[in-house]
Amino acid sequence: MAQFAPLLKLSELPRGTMRACLLGARELLICHTSAGVFALDNVCTHAEARLCEGRLRSTRVICPLHGAAFDLRDGRVLAPPAVQPLASYALQVVAGVIEVESAGS
Ligand code: FES
Repeated sequence: MAQFAPLLKLSELPRGTMRACLLGARELLICHTSAGVFALDNVCTHAEARLCEGRLRSTRVICPLHGAAFDLRDGRVLAPPAVQPLASYALQVVAGVIEVESAGS
């Protein structure tokens, strides 16, 4: 059975914003969009920029370094130069707290 770890309160992440959160040694990007809340790796698969320093546009995040875009819903690449998708993580909101799947971390 999947295990989930509490990361932050949903009220601390207004819709249209994103922030980096540590889950063990892993830095995740937590995004609150009109389509829901999503958790992905915070490091761009192109050249390791931190995506939390980029721009959030609807359900996509745009890398601050070279402009690659990723779909927050599944991590797929929407615009180059990145070619590898971002890892995405199962997430749930329980009693107003964002929890991310932590098994295996
Ligand atoms: S580091 Fe993200 S596009 Fe180059």
